[in-house]
Amino acid sequence: MTTVSENDTSDVKVTDRINLKDKNFLITGGGRGIGFACAKAIAQLGGGVAVVDTLAEPVEEFQTLSERFGIKMSYVRGDVTSQESLEEAFAQSVRAMGQLHGGLLAAGICIDEPLLEADWEHSQRTFNVNVLGTFWTIKLLGKHLVETGTRGSIVTIASLNGQGVYVPVQPCAAYNASKAAVKGMMGPIGAELGAIQTPLLKRLEGEKRAILDFYREGAPLQRLGVPEDLTPMVCYLLSDAASFVTGADFLMTGGLHAGSVRK
Ligand SMILES: NC(=O)c1ccc[n+]([C@@H]2O[C@H](COP(=O)([O-])OP(=O)(O)OC[C@H]3O[C@@H](n4cnc5c(N)ncnc54)[C@H](O)[C@@H]3O)[C@@H](O)[C@H]2O)c1
Repeated sequence: MTTVSENDTSDVKVTDRINLKDKNFLITGGGRGIGFACAKAIAQLGGGVAVVDTLAEPVEEFQTLSERFGIKMSYVRGDVTSQESLEEAFAQSVRAMGQLHGGLLAAGICIDEPLLEADWEHSQRTFNVNVLGTFWTIKLLGKHLVETGTRGSIVTIASLNGQGVYVPVQPCAAYNASKAAVKGMMGPIGAELGAIQTPLLKRLEGEKRAILDFYREGAPLQRLGVPEDLTPMVCYLLSDAASFVTGADFLMTGGLHAGSVRK
């Protein structure tokens, strides 16, 4: 958020700058996982949340946010890969919330496939959701902010996989490329992650357990991340506290971007 001016030397407390009261944020993919954890964190800081997600219903706790934190909220089913669906969901979110002050783009998919087994449609879908879905949502948000003369912040989520880090147990080159594209696209603000326990990773329990073990045992900090490891950074980036931060790339990987410590 860039509402602090060059001449603003007033004695504003850090806790006031990070307050999100009277601001509303769009969250794609906020129906569960990291997106929902961030929606809840924004709500705790007083910000309104407008979620757009393909899920028919968000996690149950979503419905409690308005009452618990006294915020505005809306949930609209929408698909970031369809122009019609995304534009309608965005318009509905604005109707429900009024002015938006930025957003967190967390809608994403990951399909693990070795290159030689890669499926044409899977790789196209990965790019449609992760890259173009992010791009078109940023366009809508940007247009809304410009047309309403409002300063705002937009945070995207890339991945450790977008750093070109080789994860031998998880070949997913199309996903890697899509996340590198998100990084490349975001001159503004990117937040990067290691492996975070969400429904996206749940599918790895069982026969793909080796992937989870790699992230847990390889990380210098020796554990998997949880969505709450990221929420403070997302809230910071959306707030006035980050008014001089733009185009920055934050690594929250448990140290894995520096290398694996697994023997
Ligand atoms: N979990 C991790 O370890 C990890 C690591 C690095 C990056 N990420 C990224 O973080 C983001 C969130 O991941 P997560 O782990 O919370 O996953 P998740 O699967 O739990 O949540 C993703 C959400 O996006 C929604 N979604 C998917 N396609 C959509 C579409 N076309 N339109 C609208 N919504 C759509 C899903 O319904 C879901 O609610 C993703 O971009 C993911 O690539 C996750």
